[in-house]
Amino acid sequence: MSNSSSDPQSFRLGEVLLSENQISERVRELGEKISSDFDEPPLVVVVLRGSAIFAADLVRQMSIDLEMDFLAVSSYENSTKSSGSVKIIKDIDTDINGRSVLIIEDIIDSGLTLNFLVNHLATRYPAEIKTCSLLLRNINPDDEPPLDYYGFKIGDEFVVGYGLDYAQSYRNLPYIAALEEC
Ligand code: IMP
Ligand code: MG
Repeated sequence: MSNSSSDPQSFRLGEVLLSENQISERVRELGEKISSDFDEPPLVVVVLRGSAIFAADLVRQMSIDLEMDFLAVSSYENSTKSSGSVKIIKDIDTDINGRSVLIIEDIIDSGLTLNFLVNHLATRYPAEIKTCSLLLRNINPDDEPPLDYYGFKIGDEFVVGYGLDYAQSYRNLPYIAALEEC
C-alpha cells in the first residue's frame, strides 16, 4: 500500500485481525518463554513509539528481574510506505557492556529497522542481543531478520492498533485492525 503526496488517499479502519484476547494470550505465552530463556536480568529496549504498548504488557508477563530503557527511531514519516532509512531520534542511556539485551519491536516489515538497531547496539559490547517483535510480515524466509521471538505473522495489509499507528493515530485501539483505502 502506498501513499504519495501527488495522489492523496484517505483510510479507514478495516477488519479486526487480532482481537484483544488473542493478543493477551499470545503476550502471556511470550512472557513465559522469554523469562525462561534469560539467565541474568536483561535490559529490555523498547523501540518507541510503536512497541510501547506491547512492551508494557509483555514485561508484566515476565517473571524475571529486568530493566527497561527506550529508544526512538523514525523511518516512516506519516506514510504507509517506508522511507528506506532509519534515524535514531533518542538513544538508550544505559551502559550495555556485558549485559543481556532484549529489543522489543512492534512489527518487522522489511527488517531494516531491526537490523539497523541490532548493529547499532552490537558496537557497545553487550553479552547478547535477543529480539522480539509482536508482528512479523510474511516475507520471504531468506530475507527474515534475526528474530528470536514474535507474536504473530501477518500478510501485506497495513495494520494499526495496540501501539501501531497511521500518522500517529489509532495507537490506543486495544486490538489490531487492517487500514483500508476509501
Ligand atoms: P521495517 O524497517 O521495514 O522492518 O519496518 C518496521 C517499522 O515500520 C515498524 O517498527 C513500524 O513502525 C513500521 N511499520 C511497518 N509496517 C507497519 C504497519 O502495518 N503498521 C504500522 N507501522 C508499520
Ligand atoms: Mg516502529
